Amino acid sequence: MSSCLISLVLASSSARIKQCTVVNMDDLITVHHEMGHVQYFLQYKEQHISFRDGANPGFHEAIGDVMALSVSTPKHLYSINLLDRVEDNLESDINYLMSIALDKIAFLPFGYLMDQWRWKVFDGRINDDEYNQQWWNLRLKYQGLCPPVPRSEEDFDPGAKFHIPANVPYVRYFVSFIIQFQFHQALCKAAGHVGPLHKCDIYQSKEAGTILGNAMKLGFSKPWPEAMQLITGQPNMSAEALLTYFEPLKNWLINENVKNAENLGWPEYTWTPFSGQVQENDRVHFLGISLDSSEAAVGLWVLLGIMLVFFIATLVLGVRFLSDRNRALKAPFEMELK
Ligand SMILES: *[C@@H]1O[C@H](CO)[C@@H](O)[C@H](O)[C@H]1NC(C)=O
Repeated sequence: MSSCLISLVLASSSARIKQCTVVNMDDLITVHHEMGHVQYFLQYKEQHISFRDGANPGFHEAIGDVMALSVSTPKHLYSINLLDRVEDNLESDINYLMSIALDKIAFLPFGYLMDQWRWKVFDGRINDDEYNQQWWNLRLKYQGLCPPVPRSEEDFDPGAKFHIPANVPYVRYFVSFIIQFQFHQALCKAAGHVGPLHKCDIYQSKEAGTILGNAMKLGFSKPWPEAMQLITGQPNMSAEALLTYFEPLKNWLINENVKNAENLGWPEYTWTPFSGQVQENDRVHFLGISLDSSEAAVGLWVLLGIMLVFFIATLVLGVRFLSDRNRALKAPFEMELK
């Protein structure tokens, strides 16, 4: 997603990322995402030029994220000395899964709606007099999000997302966020991982590397289900691995929602923004005080009076000061001249 700010360069023997990076966890993950693109370039560079591409655009986005799913685990961060100690209990598991879910799950409805909106604009299902309204309809329907202030067709909120004005297709990220969990699951199995999927780290597994490398070497030369088959042993895109990965969190959330008697979901299209106008008959707000209009008029005359008094006082003092100063300034000269 952040690749719009980053350029990737591949010459015959050297691969580069040019990126403004700070040393933090977010950019560590982003670097892995970008290195995934670079690794894909390197793996399919022997293909004919028209096949030097991902099996589908979602594959290209997914490779680095698959690495990051291993790299993010506390166990891995500990093994490369980025973490002093590793907690291992239900609370730390849920906290970890929640932090990953806020990235991977919260993104899905947005990744799904971006190109829905765009394709409907292109094929005429969304008219040019309802761009913003239909944008917010999708935002509410899939994300449960409402604008904080009233919006109209004078606004063009989809344009605030880089990929809309820059015309970068977006459903690839949705595909990536689904299939990266399929890849992660398959590679973890190859690496001999046992236990919950979110604890798997494929670091230094030759078996996992060989499987992924062979799929990447195909580039765009075969239909993507064949690359999928090479990695996962079956040809379909499926959310099953993602559901398996987050299962402990899902169970925890189901319990919490019952415990707190949460009202689940939201209305699809019925919400309208707060109009921003408070109807209070004839009341005036001044310095945080609510007054009726006659009180406000009295207040204004009082203020005007005070201002007049200050103005006259300033004039009188100013005239006095100037005449005193003139006298003081003149005195030495006059003495010398005499
Ligand atoms: C893959 O998807 C097709 C079409 O939906 C389905 O018929 C097939 O059973 C699926 N294969 C697997 C292994 O899930």
